[in-house]
Amino acid sequence: MKISLPNNSKMNSKEFTFGVATASFQIEGGVNDRLPCIWDTFCATDGKIIDQSNGDTACDHFNKWHQDVDLIESLGVDAYRLSISWPRVIKLDGSLNKAGVDFYTKLLDELKARNIKTFVTLYHWDLPQHLENKGGWLNRDTAYAFEQYVDLITKALGNRVDSYATLNEPFCSAYLGYEAGIHAPGIKGKEFGKKAAHHLLLAHGLAMQVLAKNSPNTQNGIVLNFTPAYAKTDSQADIIAAQKADDYFNQWYIKPIMDGAYPDLLNELAPENHPDIHEGDFDIISTPLDFLGINYYTRAVYEADKSELFKEVPPKDVAITDIGWEIYPKGFSNLLVSLNETYSLPPIYITENGAAMADKLIDNEVNDIDRISYYQSHLDAVNDAIEQGVNIQGYFAWSLMDNFEWAEGYTKRFGIVYVDYQSQVRTIKASGFAYKNFINQRS
Ligand code: FCB
Repeated sequence: MKISLPNNSKMNSKEFTFGVATASFQIEGGVNDRLPCIWDTFCATDGKIIDQSNGDTACDHFNKWHQDVDLIESLGVDAYRLSISWPRVIKLDGSLNKAGVDFYTKLLDELKARNIKTFVTLYHWDLPQHLENKGGWLNRDTAYAFEQYVDLITKALGNRVDSYATLNEPFCSAYLGYEAGIHAPGIKGKEFGKKAAHHLLLAHGLAMQVLAKNSPNTQNGIVLNFTPAYAKTDSQADIIAAQKADDYFNQWYIKPIMDGAYPDLLNELAPENHPDIHEGDFDIISTPLDFLGINYYTRAVYEADKSELFKEVPPKDVAITDIGWEIYPKGFSNLLVSLNETYSLPPIYITENGAAMADKLIDNEVNDIDRISYYQSHLDAVNDAIEQGVNIQGYFAWSLMDNFEWAEGYTKRFGIVYVDYQSQVRTIKASGFAYKNFINQRS
């Protein structure tokens, strides 16, 4: 089974960047060579991770990184998106940890030597635990600690990087981590989510200003995830509920960056659930971006509710992936077109898209045609959006390889490469070969 796009598609040109993505905590392991982070603590707490696993070894990329660079090169991708582990490169006193920095400089040098562009995310959820002990993202000081870390690490990495993203998916850090409590640090309560979100957005803006100074020649931006909100019925009440969910989960993170304000829904939140906004914050948060990274996996459906702003309706009788997310490529093209209509956007990179499937390794092969068809339909959706005038410059598959899927532990596989966690042997899946063949036939 093949991946292909129409001959005249802009995505068939080498100008369009194709890559694979990972994140530090999900693949590195090497736990003894860094400070503890909030995910270590969360994993050690009973009942938080479905298979009671942790990131101590993960894909052992900390030791196998050289082999993994070979693997990335063998796929023929233009770019690799990785994240820097803050607790690996910073010491308790806030100064740089040279050994940790060396790990990344060697890795980035090797990628450069193979002509692979480096897209570096500065924060993919692994907050140093000692900062969580002082309140984590509920403490405004964490934004300034992030600014300092970004200053030090970007100076140390020099010209090894092509693109910096400040944060990955602040929605997940804020909402899942400090409101729903299903991600680290596991704090629950409506009064916390928007406060954490504000400090994350402030951290992003402060980091953008540091990047403008330290790294003016890289493409600097942020990665946001979107789960477009659809109304269950066309009743006015359901439509309004879906709009509110969209503001709460999606627009909440993009509007302050693009327009310097939160959605009007702010006025409907109880005062104790409001963020703590200081004068001048929005000027920092709305520092112009060189690019916007967009992650898309699925949509969500909402209906009106008597006591809440909206109520999510779980997917029923629709195609879903192994993690239970509806397969809905139309939501992807609609999202891209609607963001483009709503905001004055910088160039877009699709920084994550992919699917968890119930892979089986049989005779050293994984015949994941379900994942290939997910990629095909979602690449078609990106192509549709480009045809409708959206300026999209690149696409990254999530993920290079199976890895630690947060609260789902190692039970969900998102890789285009299969990882046997016992032997640490990597096996390219059928989807990996299809992606490789597609990328390599471009002119
Ligand atoms: C995104 C995360 C990424 C991965 C995928 C499946 O929300 O950024 O780390 O877990 O989901």
